[in-house]
Amino acid sequence: MSGGTRSVGEIMSHPAVTATANETITAASARMREQGVGSVVVVDGDRPVGILTERDLVRMGAAGATPTDLVATWMTPDPDSVAPDVDAMTAFASLAEHGYRHIPVVDHARLVGIVSMRDLMRIAQIQPAESLAHEVPRGLEGVVVAETGIGDVRGKEGFYHYRQYNAVELAETRSLEDVWHLLYDGELPTAPQRAAFATEIAPLRHIPAEVQSALPEIARVARQAPPLDLLRTTLSLIGAALGFRPSLDLPAAELHEQGMRVCAVVPTLLCALYRLQHDLEIIEPRPDLAYAANYLYMMSGDVPTAAHARGVEQYLISTIDHGFNASTFTARVITSTGADLVAAVVGAIGALSGPLHGGAPSRALDMLDAIGTVDKADAWLRDAVGRGDRLMGFGHRVYKTDDTRSVMLRSVAERLGGSKVELAKQVEQVAIDVLAELKPGRKLYTNVEFYAGVVMDTCGVPREMFTPTFASSRVIGWTAHVLEQAADNRLIRPSAQYVGPPPPRPVPPVS
Ligand SMILES: CC(C)(COP(=O)(O)OP(=O)(O)OC[C@H]1O[C@@H](n2cnc3c(N)ncnc32)[C@H](O)[C@@H]1OP(=O)(O)O)[C@@H](O)C(=O)NCCC(=O)NCCS
Repeated sequence: MSGGTRSVGEIMSHPAVTATANETITAASARMREQGVGSVVVVDGDRPVGILTERDLVRMGAAGATPTDLVATWMTPDPDSVAPDVDAMTAFASLAEHGYRHIPVVDHARLVGIVSMRDLMRIAQIQPAESLAHEVPRGLEGVVVAETGIGDVRGKEGFYHYRQYNAVELAETRSLEDVWHLLYDGELPTAPQRAAFATEIAPLRHIPAEVQSALPEIARVARQAPPLDLLRTTLSLIGAALGFRPSLDLPAAELHEQGMRVCAVVPTLLCALYRLQHDLEIIEPRPDLAYAANYLYMMSGDVPTAAHARGVEQYLISTIDHGFNASTFTARVITSTGADLVAAVVGAIGALSGPLHGGAPSRALDMLDAIGTVDKADAWLRDAVGRGDRLMGFGHRVYKTDDTRSVMLRSVAERLGGSKVELAKQVEQVAIDVLAELKPGRKLYTNVEFYAGVVMDTCGVPREMFTPTFASSRVIGWTAHVLEQAADNRLIRPSAQYVGPPPPRPVPPVS
């Protein structure tokens, strides 16, 4: 161990995030989450009287605490503290010995800051002892696990971006191919680059012949399977048929080529599987149609109107990437092992297929159908929230204000017209009012899923293809992340905290 010459006062966080003993645990834990900290110091004026940590929150959950319980009930009273002039290594030893992760820094009975195990370890440049894991919240909320130049979500400000551009502005003004070029090559294309990109993509849209001939049998065996499950399976087959090798062994240019190939073929594969499952002939891609128009054409057999193609294209652009979501993280973890590009995409599809991630714009549409007419909306929605149900298409983990994607898609839906739009707008308003009344302070607004369903339905996409359509654009984001991870790789290999019976116990003889 080294680095024990700095004092606690130099490395502590200050001011510490605080709470009072008579506020609710809901308010205190919300503050912890907002500020991205693992504990709050409970104070009486300047004086620390307790500490409430993430561990306490887990304990409370298990013990059946209610959100209105007061901090005083669950905090650890009179916590140990450390003075600012104490040497960092001495403080480290004390934290380690007692199993603390945070310790208030107190000067003459006055709280002046807080120091965490993580702060101390960073300074001391020591490896965590096996019993002393770095503390991160369950679900890794707010934990930075990578650097990316692809894009980010600024939830509080209500916007997200692809590279240096506002993603919604891109969806309003650019083609999907332009944005794909931006993600892959770092810049929006010039006119000649755009033409070259289209020429490059056209032949890559075709399913390799040996895989295409196997599709009818696969669709027959898994006739009822969701299209996303079949995509996962058949994409694996494509990777194997094309002889994709571990990313670790490939030059960047070859990985880039593979990424282009996978992104181009996914829409074709999805439409082929959908049609086979419905006893329809596969429709070959048309090189003269742009991405979204070609997608709708391969699905239905009809060239869509320009308005429908543009509506779907705008939805697709808006869903290409969205921060370090679960499927993107999955793709990067798999790539970090050096596995091949298709392995990463198949893993990402698996993550996306889970209801907590892939979402279900179809469920928002089901809700509209169930409500039927606006006069029934208030009672229906109150009933649902009263029962503890979630209103589909409302609320978001990151956005606590309008999800800009929903604002854009609302205007796309308005432009397209159609039978569902008016009802959707009216129900949206009633839902926001009902949520504000029955879930005050939770900041629940419309999310991307609400109008996504309306737009896709209006443009003729069947409900079972909503989430697959989402996957067909997100694959561009996943593979851009694969290229980025592979270009500057380090194996992602975190740790878990062991909470089982204490080891080691003698292994009993076989009875
Ligand atoms: C997206 C979602 C999972 C984010 O949830 P989260 O950040 O984990 O929010 P929480 O689960 O902490 O919810 C906070 C509170 O708001 C309530 N809430 C959140 N979303 C709600 C919704 N759509 N309808 C009703 N209440 C909702 C929760 O019940 C909770 O209330 P409580 O404090 O009384 O327990 C959640 O809003 C949701 O389930 N929405 C509906 C499904 C959906 O549209 N998914 C697509 C997302 S793009």
